[in-house]
Amino acid sequence: MEVVIRRTPEEVAATAAGIVADYVRSGPSVLGLATGSTPLATYADLIRRHRDEDLSFAQAVSFNLDEYVGLPAAHPESYRSVIRREFTSHVDLPDADVHGPDGNAEDVFAEAKRYEAAIDAAGGVDVQLLGIGTDGHIGFNEPGSSLASLTRIKTLTEQTREDNARFFESIDEVPIHVLTQGLGTISRARHLLLLATGAGKAEAVQAAVEGPVTAFCPASVLQLHPHVTVVVDDAAAGRLRLADYYRYVLANKPTGQGF
Ligand code: F6R
Repeated sequence: MEVVIRRTPEEVAATAAGIVADYVRSGPSVLGLATGSTPLATYADLIRRHRDEDLSFAQAVSFNLDEYVGLPAAHPESYRSVIRREFTSHVDLPDADVHGPDGNAEDVFAEAKRYEAAIDAAGGVDVQLLGIGTDGHIGFNEPGSSLASLTRIKTLTEQTREDNARFFESIDEVPIHVLTQGLGTISRARHLLLLATGAGKAEAVQAAVEGPVTAFCPASVLQLHPHVTVVVDDAAAGRLRLADYYRYVLANKPTGQGF
C-alpha cells in the first residue's frame, strides 16, 4: 500500500486523475467509478484532460460501485445520474459503456448476481476509485460487511444516511437500502485508488491504513490487496501515525516507479 499525502484536495484530484489517465491512455481499460463528493474534483480534472489534452475514453468502459435501491434511475441523486452528470456525459464514454447496478430491478437479488457477472465478463476492473465513509465504509459496505462479500443488497447505517442527507431535501428521502459491490468484488480490481479529503475523514483513514484488518472498518480490507494507492490531503492524513514516513517514501520514490 502506498500512501500519498498531498497538501490540498486539488492536488489529490490531480494525482488521482493522472493515475486514471495513465490507464485510459494505455489501451482498453475498465474503470471502477465511485460517487459521493470526494471524486468529483478528479472527474473534473479528467474532463479537463479530455478537453485540453486529447485524453480519449473511447476504449474505456466503466462500472459504478453502488446504487440506491428504489430511487428512480432519472432521479438527480441516483448514482447512475450523478456519474453521467459529473463525468461521463462530458467525455467520449457513451452511456452504453457506463454500467451500474439497477436499483429498480424487480428482483434485486438476481440483479446483484447479474452485475457481478457483468464485471467478470468485462475482464474485471483495472483501476477502482474509492471514497471512504466516516464509518470506514467503501462502496456501501457498512461495518460488519464480510471481507469476502460480493455485490448484494445492504442496509445503510443511520450515520451514512445522515452523511448523505446533504444531497437530498431531507434524511427521509435517503433510501435505506442499496446495491453495492462487495468487499470481495472490490478486492478483485487490479489497482485500488482510495481518495480522502478533509479532517472529517482522518479517523477513518487512520483506521483503514494503520488499524487492524477487520470487518468493523471495511476499508481495512485494502491492507490485503497487492496494489493500493491511498491519496489524501494533509487534513485527512492528520491522524496517520506514520505520516512522516509516507512523505519520506514519496520524496525518495525510485526513479521510474509509477503508482
Ligand atoms: C459512493 C461510495 C461511498 C462514498 C463514501 C464517501 O459511490 O461508494 O463509499 O465514497 O460514502 O462519500 P463522500 O465522498 O461524499 O464523503
